[in-house]
Amino acid sequence: MGVCPAVSRYFRRWKYMILLLLSVSVLAWLATFAGETVKAIQDTHRSAQTLEDNAEVLRGGMQYSWKTVTQVFSNPLPDTPPPKESCPEKSPLLHGALKLTFEDSLTLKEVESENSGVAEGQYQPPDCLAQQSVAILIPHRNREKHLLYLLHHLHPFLQRQQLRYGIYVIHQAGEVTFNRAKLLNVGYLEALKDYDWDCFVFHDVDLVPENDYNLYKCDQQPKHLVVGRNATGYKLRYKGYFGGVTAMTKDQFHKVNGFSNTYWGWGGEDDDLRIRVELQKMKIIRPPPLIARYTMVFHKRDSGNEINKDRMLLLGRTPQVWRTDGLNTCSYSTLSVERPPLYINVTVDIGKPLH
Ligand SMILES: *[C@@H]1O[C@H](CO)[C@@H](O)[C@H](O)[C@H]1NC(C)=O
Repeated sequence: MGVCPAVSRYFRRWKYMILLLLSVSVLAWLATFAGETVKAIQDTHRSAQTLEDNAEVLRGGMQYSWKTVTQVFSNPLPDTPPPKESCPEKSPLLHGALKLTFEDSLTLKEVESENSGVAEGQYQPPDCLAQQSVAILIPHRNREKHLLYLLHHLHPFLQRQQLRYGIYVIHQAGEVTFNRAKLLNVGYLEALKDYDWDCFVFHDVDLVPENDYNLYKCDQQPKHLVVGRNATGYKLRYKGYFGGVTAMTKDQFHKVNGFSNTYWGWGGEDDDLRIRVELQKMKIIRPPPLIARYTMVFHKRDSGNEINKDRMLLLGRTPQVWRTDGLNTCSYSTLSVERPPLYINVTVDIGKPLH
């Protein structure tokens, strides 16, 4: 072919030029692309970081809102205090042996002002949930001074034991012979209308506990709290004695059908309760003698509470009659229920003896 050799030389130089240009532009393109890729990777990384941050914020938010949800649920009413922890097995407030005083000048107003945490005879510990709720039942007639001394000592005593409690004074109306046992049946029935008490303490008005380790709590078995009193040289009055102050759970007392209603006058009803307890194969327990000590405030035998001469006869028939003489046959009429600051005062007509 007759191509001019000068042209072909020219063309060859151009070819190199174009090749060079092409390679340069490819390189340039590659470089930009690479730059953009790096930037893109960096961007992805950055947005991932942002996402993570957002997730963190979200998680925090969830936690916060979950907290709010649980708070709302555990606290349905704004006025109810938050749930408390149980009181410890052993109260840190106990003193042990106490110095008791029986000032002639003591007034109800003073005792009220010493017990501002008590409302309508009831109390519960301010910063923990009591292990038991206890109704103290005190049969009463014409013993205002004894009642005052007892309230004076018993309120702080029970508060140191960190109990939820209510003090019921069951006042026998009228002049017929006193019937401690029937009044205690009435107290049990009336107290359960207020609250579902775990434990009942049947308490004579003239006995004041001397040591706050003597716990007014119920146990697996019926508990007798008065081992000794100053009037008897701090010895158990007799083997099997189950009077003065005793503690039974709601179920234990229900199981024995409560006290007999037929003991009018002094004595026998506590032995009758012991027989009922034994018939149910329960066993009376007592705290150590050094702890279960009481001061018996002096008094002479009340008129209207003469010794019950029939008591031995009645005790003999307890195993036959306990099912039909007790809580299930306790008829009475409540004359009034008053709620002064320190106790619930139930005044009741319990009828009179059959003969
Ligand atoms: C028991 O102590 C009380 C209060 O100090 C007192 O009134 C009573 O007479 C004492 N009883 C006996 C038998 O010492």
